[in-house]
Amino acid sequence: MTLFDQYLGKIAAASTSEAVEALRQELFGRKAGVMTMMMKELGAVSAEQRKTKGQELNVLKVKLESMLDARLREIAAAQMSDIASRDALDLTLDLPMADSGHKHPIHEYIRKAEEVFGRMGFDTALGPEIETEHYNFNQLNIPETHPARDLQDTFWISSRGRTVLRTHTSPMQIRYMETHTPPFRMICAGKVYRKDSDATHSPMFHQIEGLMIGPTVSLANMKAVMETAIKELVDPNVEFRWRTGYFPFVEPGLEMDLRWRGDESKSREGRWLEVVGCGMVHPNVLKNVGIDSEKYQGFAFGFGVERMLMIRHQIPDLRSFYQGDLRFLRQF
Ligand code: PHE
Repeated sequence: MTLFDQYLGKIAAASTSEAVEALRQELFGRKAGVMTMMMKELGAVSAEQRKTKGQELNVLKVKLESMLDARLREIAAAQMSDIASRDALDLTLDLPMADSGHKHPIHEYIRKAEEVFGRMGFDTALGPEIETEHYNFNQLNIPETHPARDLQDTFWISSRGRTVLRTHTSPMQIRYMETHTPPFRMICAGKVYRKDSDATHSPMFHQIEGLMIGPTVSLANMKAVMETAIKELVDPNVEFRWRTGYFPFVEPGLEMDLRWRGDESKSREGRWLEVVGCGMVHPNVLKNVGIDSEKYQGFAFGFGVERMLMIRHQIPDLRSFYQGDLRFLRQF
């Protein structure tokens, strides 16, 4: 068996890169490598023989080296495919649908409202649910004697620090005006709290506050914005009516009612549901935040989120939103 044949077998049988390197050492090791020795022996033969023998040895050397390298590559490739098959993720595999649920209809709806108002140029703000009396009442021109301050309506957190669970999102009007210079448009959605509970009231519900201030913002602008939003968010054919309403922080104040389109047999059919309080921001409120009411004016509004959804989907009782009943939630 020639040296070449002998190593052909040995190299093919090497199953690890260490074994291949050991063979390389055996062949070409500096001191005792088989090939190294044969090269050294060339020194002892005649010049004529040295030339032909030398060429032969060189060819052999190149062949053996490339076989060693090829074997190394084979071993590496085999290892890779081994790893690949052990860690394989079959992305084409058809898995059963995960039961992943969806956003609560109220949050879905708030997102939609942010989008609708966003298209009309309104910025989105967020405010704290625990408010101070200062922001929740005082700055909004709500007098000490106003019934909304009554313990019956407001959840006081502490009477000493005068903090409350905000009773409306209107304090965000103040916070926003304190930190922005007009002209601006903003909405702010979130939870509000009142001591109330029946089919159309819950101690916690959601409001979307809006505020638009500029040099020439008018009541007509307000009605246009409100009507556009209601049509997009409730129903393009929704029946609505405007009434005057009293809120200490607007003058004049208006309320918008939407026709309640519940089940024909329900007693509420034909009734109106108040969903928006709004009006032109009261000059006292502008003064409180240092905005010159001779130069700027604007409107503010507060939507009841649950009530808009109730009308949109003909839901008879607002408390269904919070009971976590999947038969209800899955309908959205
Ligand atoms: N904050 C009022 C409420 O909760 C609604 C409102 C907002 C009215 C803005 C006028 C302007 O009833």
